[in-house]
Amino acid sequence: GAGRGGGKGSAVELPPGGVAMAAGCFRRSIASQLSKVLDLPPENLIKSISAVPVSKKRHVADFQLSIASIIENSSGDCSAQDLHLQAQQLAERLQCDSVVSAISAGPGTVNFTINRELLAKTVLQQVWKDGSEYGVKSELFSTVPRQKAVVEFSSPNIAKKFHIGHLRSTIVGNFIANLKAVLGHEVVRINYLGDWGMQFGLLGVGFQSFGNKEKLKSSPLQHLFEVYVQINKAAEDENTKKLAKDFFRKLEEHDEQALSIWQQFRDLSIEEYIRIYKRLGVHFDEYSGESFYQEKAQEVLKMLEDKGLLQKTIKGTGVVDLSEKKDLSTVSTVMRSDGTSLYITRDLAAAIDRMNKHSWDTMIYVTDKSQSNHFQHLFQILKLMGYDWAERCQHVSFGLVQGMKTRRGEVVFLEDVLNEVRSRMLQNMTSTKTTKETQDPVETAEKVGLAALIIQDFRGLLSSDYQFSWERALQSRGDTGVFLQYTHARLHSLEQMHGNAELTDVNVSCLQEPDAISVLQHLLRYDEVLHRSSQDLQPKHIVSYLLTLSHLAAVAHKTLPVKGSAPAVAQVRHSGVGGWGAAQEGSVRALPAQPCHHW
Ligand code: ARG
Repeated sequence: GAGRGGGKGSAVELPPGGVAMAAGCFRRSIASQLSKVLDLPPENLIKSISAVPVSKKRHVADFQLSIASIIENSSGDCSAQDLHLQAQQLAERLQCDSVVSAISAGPGTVNFTINRELLAKTVLQQVWKDGSEYGVKSELFSTVPRQKAVVEFSSPNIAKKFHIGHLRSTIVGNFIANLKAVLGHEVVRINYLGDWGMQFGLLGVGFQSFGNKEKLKSSPLQHLFEVYVQINKAAEDENTKKLAKDFFRKLEEHDEQALSIWQQFRDLSIEEYIRIYKRLGVHFDEYSGESFYQEKAQEVLKMLEDKGLLQKTIKGTGVVDLSEKKDLSTVSTVMRSDGTSLYITRDLAAAIDRMNKHSWDTMIYVTDKSQSNHFQHLFQILKLMGYDWAERCQHVSFGLVQGMKTRRGEVVFLEDVLNEVRSRMLQNMTSTKTTKETQDPVETAEKVGLAALIIQDFRGLLSSDYQFSWERALQSRGDTGVFLQYTHARLHSLEQMHGNAELTDVNVSCLQEPDAISVLQHLLRYDEVLHRSSQDLQPKHIVSYLLTLSHLAAVAHKTLPVKGSAPAVAQVRHSGVGGWGAAQEGSVRALPAQPCHHW
């Protein structure tokens, strides 16, 4: 529940050396025994010991050592039969102790079962102590140095459509930024706006004929978009085209009047973006944009020329040769024939400027995969320019989503999506009889609906394309964000109902039912799951962990009631609930979804 363990998702200090994490202390204990038998340093073994995933077929073992991963380092390949034999031989040489109560051999693994009471006690204590920071302090992260990460995401284009790709970039980027921050890294969140280019020439002219100052103030994004659509229709005629070109030229020449109009469009748009992002729980440290790098791009062209990297084509454009054989078979165009810069030139300037300003350790760009080539070229040119840090730039790309429509039709604004999800969820809530009265149904519908949207998007690999469906996303059963929020609210209310007592003298021998053990075993895996997501930046590991946790919670809720049980039993079950409620809250926060307490 709220109020424990800080839980702000803000930077946490990474402890020096290892810490006593529940799963960690078990892994270490197993590794130390193994290290004596195998004559290998325990640190090398810890990585090969993992918590066994909880599945429908109940298992007793809690941890397993993968034989393949320890011999990988020493000898070559091994047959499955060989591996099994080795596992058996190793298992025979190991002994149970105060931590491990059973050891067995499986196909290629040695399995360890932790003393049942110790398991319950250690996990519950850890969860209580760390609250929503459970898992974060694991020694799996203690060897990772604290870094400064720039995460650039969302980056819509002013006066143009905010499409599903921008929405995905927003939630994926926010996930990455949150995850890094929670793990103790310093994060700079940048929104790189499309705030320059011919569209502003058109807007400047369009506003004179179709603009309305009141509307611009009250809903800038909508109004600018409308003006843009209208002027685009009008721009068929040569005269309007010429006027737009003239206006844009004025901007590039820093004409004061033109710039002040542009500035107003930009400022008002950002104000509205900030308000809408807030509904998603998203914020940025910096709103930069292409405009800012317009001039710096000229310096980049000069640098490219000085380094002998800029080549002129017959058409008069400027290119950088990226081919291996230097035969111009792959080039990147960085300059128009009139000497002006392009999208990639501004990105070159932006990357160099961010390095100067932030001296980051890693920089991540989040966009759909259609821009993969662009970023590969960007990193290659930076490398050719002699910036070795280009290797620390990363493009996190994601697949395309089809079919997201609102009742108003095609998605044009982020706000449309947010309103749609809220109203659909509200409707679902009112039509289900089981929904209890909530304090603020609109707010609940928004939080739950957003979680649904995010979970639907995060369930698969980011690179996969998918067909969007409101019905599927907003289902209350099955693997959805609705189910996740529902579980969270249920645990929270259980906690409220039975007080907030800490785990003091609870009798863990009362927490030995298979359904209780499954929850404990699942909690043991959390630091590994977190580690995996932090390595490949895929949210799906955390999402599937959370969904399983919710299913296990639903089962335990049914089979292990708190109400009506003997006091000692009720007390320990209740401490369990508080514990995993808190742990779940921490991981829900790692996603951009905001946990919902009342429902
Ligand atoms: N504004 C661009 C678009 O909507 C995305 C910007 C991505 N970031 C970048 N540094 N190029 O396609």
